Amino acid sequence: MQHFEEETYQDMSLNTSTWKRIFSFMRPLKRYIVIVIILATLLAVADVSYPLINRYGIDTIIKDGDLSKIPLFIAIYVFYMIFVAVLVFSFIYFAEKLQHNLAYIIRKKAFTKLQELPFSYYDRTPAGWIMARMTSDTRQLSDILSWGLVDITWGGMMMIMLIVVMFVLNVQLTLITLAVMPLLIYLSWFFRKRILKAYRDIRKQNSKITGAFNEGITGAKTTKTLVLEESNYNDFDALTSNMRKHSIKAAVFASLYFPSILFIASIATALIFYYGGIDVSNEVITIGLLYVFVSYVGQFFDPIMQLANSLAQFQQAQASAERVVSLIDATPDITDTAEVIAKYGTIENPKTENWEPLHGAVTFDNVTFKYKKGEKVLSDFNLHVKQGESIALVGHTGAGKSTIVNLVCRFYEPSEGRVLIDGKDYKERSMHWLHAHLGYVLQSPELFSGTIRENIRYGRLEATDSEVEDAAKLVGAHDFIITFKDGYDTEVSEGGSRLSVGQKQLISFARALLAKPRILILDEATSSVDTETELKIQSAIQTVMEGRTSFIIAHRLSTIINADRILVLEHGQILESGTHEELLEKGEHYYKLYTNQFKEVPL
Ligand SMILES: Nc1ncnc2c1ncn2[C@@H]1O[C@H](COP(=O)(O)OP(=O)(O)OP(=O)(O)O)[C@@H](O)[C@H]1O
Ligand SMILES: [Mg+2]
Repeated sequence: MQHFEEETYQDMSLNTSTWKRIFSFMRPLKRYIVIVIILATLLAVADVSYPLINRYGIDTIIKDGDLSKIPLFIAIYVFYMIFVAVLVFSFIYFAEKLQHNLAYIIRKKAFTKLQELPFSYYDRTPAGWIMARMTSDTRQLSDILSWGLVDITWGGMMMIMLIVVMFVLNVQLTLITLAVMPLLIYLSWFFRKRILKAYRDIRKQNSKITGAFNEGITGAKTTKTLVLEESNYNDFDALTSNMRKHSIKAAVFASLYFPSILFIASIATALIFYYGGIDVSNEVITIGLLYVFVSYVGQFFDPIMQLANSLAQFQQAQASAERVVSLIDATPDITDTAEVIAKYGTIENPKTENWEPLHGAVTFDNVTFKYKKGEKVLSDFNLHVKQGESIALVGHTGAGKSTIVNLVCRFYEPSEGRVLIDGKDYKERSMHWLHAHLGYVLQSPELFSGTIRENIRYGRLEATDSEVEDAAKLVGAHDFIITFKDGYDTEVSEGGSRLSVGQKQLISFARALLAKPRILILDEATSSVDTETELKIQSAIQTVMEGRTSFIIAHRLSTIINADRILVLEHGQILESGTHEELLEKGEHYYKLYTNQFKEVPL
């Protein structure tokens, strides 16, 4: 259903619906488009008039020797130069404006869509694919749509005006000039397409090479330990020699293109000189007119090359356009229904006045669930969690623990059955209503670029500095934060790479607490902190969970001994449930898990 291939090259037929959609993004920029079209047309007028001005100089001043016209000629010339300078400045200015505004519009649309799309979209769609749509495709599209518009308008206008003016001036010479055009157009098109294809192949190789570099760098340690250097080198060598092959091909086409165009242009010029020269000597036309035609032949090639180039680029950009449209028009498979939106509002405009308070009772009612790709993870799963109850989920890796909490969060929806919050199917209330009451610390914590303080404050934007610090103290993050030179104002780089995983977990833990959620979800939230810190957090968790429904997933069972109820899961089934003491006493699965763990990790 998606176009995940990075770069494809085919002779695609025009996909009108895609372009219509893309052009609809340009609607708010109508003003710029009109300005750019007018400016490009004026530039074509200027280009066509230039030889005519010179003709006046040649015929009137040089040939007839009327020197009194020199001041007028200079005045016209100066005016012309100023006119062209202003024109060039303004069309570059407006085309750039058009380009950047368009890129902004497309990126904004795509970004908004990315916020709406549920987790399941990201399961199917590689992050690299999305990044490429947001960056290179958007750039390519806005570039071709703005500069392509300039080039096509200018090229088209130029050709029309040249042909009209030439016919008015001299029919015979015009026909001679036009005679070589079909060949010229064909050659331009032929080479342009091949050159673009070669460049495209180069880019494809390039992105593979970048990928290989990336793996080579990030995987350096693993490579060394596995002694994979030699095979990595061979793969890389194959990639680079492929790149060289395509680059040479591109260079050959590019270097053949201009000489062949010039060759045809020279033939045309020679023909004009020949026939025009005869006419001049017979005094049928003036030498000024011959000059005009010789100039026009030269001028004719530019717009043809330009048009061939733009049209080929448009054809290439269609792939980008299709991918961008497929992202912007992707329909989220988890959405609020129209009735729900009418009552509870959207993320942008929540109708909080209609929101019921969320108490935090969670029920799985015969829930069956499978991810888009894969087997059933849960079948006919039933669970009732009382308001304020703390539930611990334990079990082997892949047992379905994260899946269960993802369903609670409505990051995914049951394939069959229902999830009820406070006794009501959560699909009957808005996603935003639920998410506003959730605190979630992920298995792999995400920090945003910004300071530590800002990162914690994302939990509740209106929280004061002291509330932020209290939350940090509660989870035991305060102590390490103040050891940084800038304390809470320490910048965490993108992804939080300056912090250890454990530190990131503590910060996102503080963030979740600050939100004062009704339902708290900790998915391996403390798996990467040391045992000492964990003990501290444990007591914090105890206080925090007071009165809140909570789901805790932990491999380290010491974290969860105090949970109201422990569920032992396997293959999406609840094997056992009860308190820590009850389950130990029972002496089955939980007992085994627990005693095994304490043999390995003595406390
Ligand atoms: N996004 C996904 N797409 C497809 N299958 C998935 C996805 N996430 C999990 N699964 C599958 O669902 C099953 C349950 O996974 P889940 O992540 O819920 O396990 P878990 O108990 O949280 O494991 P762990 O302790 O390793 O975190 C596994 O078989 C897994 O392969
Ligand atoms: Mg998990």
